[in-house]
Amino acid sequence: MRYFITGTAGFIGFHLARRLLQDGHEVVGFDGMTHYYNIKLKQMRNAALAQFPGFRAVTAMLEDRKAVEDAVASAKPDVIVHLAAQAGVRYSLENPKAYLTSNLEGSWNILEIAKTVGVQHLMLASTSSIYGANPTVPFHEMDRADEPLTFYAATKKSMELMAHSYAHLHKVPTTAFRFFTVYGPWGRPDMALFKFVKNMLEDQPIEIYGEGKMSRDFTYIDDLVEAILRLSAVAPSEANRVAGENTDTLSHQAPFRVVNIGGGQPVSLLDFVETVEKALGQPAKRLMLPMQKGDVPRTFASPDLLVALTGYKPETTLREGVKAFVDWYVEARAELD
Ligand SMILES: NC(=O)c1ccc[n+]([C@@H]2O[C@H](COP(=O)([O-])OP(=O)(O)OC[C@H]3O[C@@H](n4cnc5c(N)ncnc54)[C@H](O)[C@@H]3O)[C@@H](O)[C@H]2O)c1
Repeated sequence: MRYFITGTAGFIGFHLARRLLQDGHEVVGFDGMTHYYNIKLKQMRNAALAQFPGFRAVTAMLEDRKAVEDAVASAKPDVIVHLAAQAGVRYSLENPKAYLTSNLEGSWNILEIAKTVGVQHLMLASTSSIYGANPTVPFHEMDRADEPLTFYAATKKSMELMAHSYAHLHKVPTTAFRFFTVYGPWGRPDMALFKFVKNMLEDQPIEIYGEGKMSRDFTYIDDLVEAILRLSAVAPSEANRVAGENTDTLSHQAPFRVVNIGGGQPVSLLDFVETVEKALGQPAKRLMLPMQKGDVPRTFASPDLLVALTGYKPETTLREGVKAFVDWYVEARAELD
């Protein structure tokens, strides 16, 4: 199959593209190589993908409609996976405009183009952040998610809504995934695992927000990719509606569905820190800080819909996943500096 993937120099896009290339598919990767974090890491990911003959990279911004159009036209994709975005919860307080242009205008460009080329399946990355401070756990896709606590979450929820209207009007089968704290080798330098491991190896303190009382449903990257591949084969349609009205989010108006990708096993921040300490074999210097503006107290996925659609849910333990990250980081860090 031919895939057009946005965000392939990013953490998740890189892993998804690599897995598809290993499986013999063709991938055109589109990424603007933004400077939100260490560009060297993005170049290293691109270089690793460039080793596959089935890969072609296009470097351009999503906001550049002509560039996206030309890239999609030359890729002739069966499936589009739109992962490029301005990610990160905290940075959306500092630079909301990056979220507005990348996540709204950029995603709209993808919707416009998907409509014209008529792909079999359009898949979009949304986030657990849209649940905000959801009062009930686990978070079900049917829960009301209209009280975002950050502008990042607001842009992702808006993307889901825009995509629903396009799926209805233009009949493009569209799945929006809600990811839950994805981690693993080649991960993002702005996320806790990367920062903790880096600081601990440099004998620096680690910042623990919310006095360690927050919890997160962590998803190991290989599990996430497996879930995406399985969902790729289940494009939203009445033919594959899951029996039981309370599970499936398949729209009654459009070939559109939202799906959580998370294992449903939240871990407290302090247990997370302990797991990192064990993996590194050293204690952390802990700097306990209050919750930051926009932080949500917990995330906790219901994996029921994912399981109903794919027979699969993320299972890698935090211990195994953290170890895999540490092994990668220890190898890669000299090149990253
Ligand atoms: N990693 C997580 O835990 C997590 C959780 C929830 C949702 N998500 C979503 O998953 C997707 C992938 O996340 P990631 O962790 O791989 O992030 P990432 O920042 O590593 O990757 C995103 C990539 O998109 C590119 N990009 C950003 N804005 C762009 C633009 N306007 N035009 C072109 N390229 C642009 C960046 O250069 C980057 O390489 C994002 O949509 C993110 O919001 C991630």
